[in-house]
Amino acid sequence: MMVSETEYMITQDAASRVQVLSEALPYIQQFSGRTIVVKYGGAAMKDSSLKDKVICDIVFLSCVGIRPIVVHGGGPEINSWLGKLGIEAQFKNGLRVTDAPTMDVVEMVLVGRVNKEIVTLISKAGGSAVGMCGKDGNLIRARPQGEEGIGFVGEVCSVDTKILETLVNNGYIPVVSSVAADETGQPYNINADTVAGEIAAAIGAEKLILLTDTRGILKDYKDASTLIPRVDIQEARELITTGVVSGGMIPKVNCCVRSLAQGVRAAHIVDGRIPHALLLEIFTDIGIGTMLVGSQFTI
Ligand SMILES: Nc1ncnc2c1ncn2[C@@H]1O[C@H](COP(=O)(O)OP(=O)(O)OP(=O)(O)O)[C@@H](O)[C@H]1O
Ligand SMILES: [Mg+2]
Repeated sequence: MMVSETEYMITQDAASRVQVLSEALPYIQQFSGRTIVVKYGGAAMKDSSLKDKVICDIVFLSCVGIRPIVVHGGGPEINSWLGKLGIEAQFKNGLRVTDAPTMDVVEMVLVGRVNKEIVTLISKAGGSAVGMCGKDGNLIRARPQGEEGIGFVGEVCSVDTKILETLVNNGYIPVVSSVAADETGQPYNINADTVAGEIAAAIGAEKLILLTDTRGILKDYKDASTLIPRVDIQEARELITTGVVSGGMIPKVNCCVRSLAQGVRAAHIVDGRIPHALLLEIFTDIGIGTMLVGSQFTI
């Protein structure tokens, strides 16, 4: 029997889909039962169709037995609310200058709005998420970052992963806002990349994946063709000292280096503007973005 051109194309399409599924099998086997910490921020958070895809990818991970933990930023939404309230947004070395009124807005927007929106989207996609910030279950104890004139910008002092373990062991997807308190209860605004890195290290994650709005680490940050596909800890430190990495990329590279030094096997800085960037990074051989490893010889 002759096969029509349309039938042939449908068969080809189906075959390539099955091919992709079967290629994913070794990765699913390798990572099943492992924890992957995903920092969700940048462009993938602004565009609603990209947002849906990121959420689907997270639910997908959870369905195939991988334990995702989501840590989110929300810079643009904080800026927009600061604007509505007539408060000027200011940055120093990629960190938000956080005075007391700004801290209130950061906490309200991140914990009250952005976090709950992600939780709702995960539920709509069929997953089961629990939103929290560093204060919940004593997850994160904060301390001041200490830089002059930066206000309530915090560092991670300690992490207690019990609440996260309880949730992931029971099939929930934790969604964490990067706000935490010190021992007096004073809230601090901590960079979400830093929080993701510290959580990944404390829980012994397999991977740390930072979704952002650039292709990865670029030699020249204005030229997307200068992507650095792979760096080790030593080279990553040099990228900061030589000034190749600046602004919002500094806390990213720092947290990758710290988490790798504490045993996380690989950290990835990935372009969240690419649809399904998470699945591409985890389940295929195509390396997108920059992969940071402990040493060039370890993997
Ligand atoms: N060498 C570099 N390569 C790539 N990007 C760089 C480099 N140096 C500085 N950058 C800047 O870092 C930015 C990414 O950090 P940024 O904090 O803006 O995003 P994010 O962390 O994904 O979002 P959010 O902070 O809202 O969660 C890039 O858009 C780019 O402007
Ligand atoms: Mg940032």
